[in-house]
Amino acid sequence: MMDQILSRLLENETVSGQALSEELGVTRAAVWKKIDALRDAGFDIESCGRQGYRLNGCPDSLRVPVVLHGLDTKWAGREMVYLESVDSTNRYARKWAAEGAAHGALVLADEQTAGRGRRGRSWISPAGEGIFMSLIMRPHAHPSEVARLSLQTALAVVKALHDACGLDAQIKWPNDIVCAGRKICGLLLEMNADEQAVHDVVAGIGINVHQKQFDEDIQKTASSVDLQTGRKENRAAIVRAFLRAFEETEQLGDGLMEAYRAHSATLGRQVEVIGSDCRFVGVALDVTDSGSLIVEDQQGRKREVLAADVSVRGLMGYV
Ligand code: BTN
Repeated sequence: MMDQILSRLLENETVSGQALSEELGVTRAAVWKKIDALRDAGFDIESCGRQGYRLNGCPDSLRVPVVLHGLDTKWAGREMVYLESVDSTNRYARKWAAEGAAHGALVLADEQTAGRGRRGRSWISPAGEGIFMSLIMRPHAHPSEVARLSLQTALAVVKALHDACGLDAQIKWPNDIVCAGRKICGLLLEMNADEQAVHDVVAGIGINVHQKQFDEDIQKTASSVDLQTGRKENRAAIVRAFLRAFEETEQLGDGLMEAYRAHSATLGRQVEVIGSDCRFVGVALDVTDSGSLIVEDQQGRKREVLAADVSVRGLMGYV
């Protein structure tokens, strides 16, 4: 009911308590209670006598009506769930996908208590500080084509940060988003597939937005959007820009790889590759259409890297 009231307040200049109670089939007192709860959550709601209520200001909220307000996408985020706290939006989204969530459904959380990173690492997800979200996709793709989706997601984040905050971020292969040499966003894609077909893919996106401080182990390598722009950015605006950018990048077709390469922080740079069974230094030459990195090693051999940790000279503390 809180979200229904919030939607009405976002859509209209003033909404009368009477109209709300009739529409929602509850007492005026019940409406009043919810208005109070919204005020407690930081929404600036004015009572204007008999005319009712007016919304004068929104906090930095990721509640569904706030994110939907002004969203102009066709499918991305058209179904959306907001959770004040969840263990991991990826885990929640995978379950929702298995239960039949639509292509483009989005899970958003204000806080994660067990946020997951790549390679079994954790993702620190404090309440109100970042964007923790998972986009569910049902692509008509072979499992081998899913790497492309991860590059597409990274590109959409870069575009979103540019469009919503004017930030020029880059992509450290395969899909870390970096700015001024520090990581501000990480992606974790998980797919549910058999040998022939992909049933669904969950793209988990963690963006550091308001963080000013980081745990010691990532202190030198992490940053946040606010630290980079010097302003307090709006999380809902970034989410909307991401959903729009995701649809746009889907239209790129063959142009996707070109756009990805143009925003790469890895290509042309000296890198150190640390794979499960190899470790070497070289120069990153290209990213193939299937998403692997081509690195020329010190013996002049071109090696294709599919999945590995790659340090890029000059980024995230690698000198
Ligand atoms: C990385 O290690 O760089 C990937 C981090 C991915 C974090 C995001 S936050 C939203 C989603 N839910 C999770 O549990 N993880 C991803």
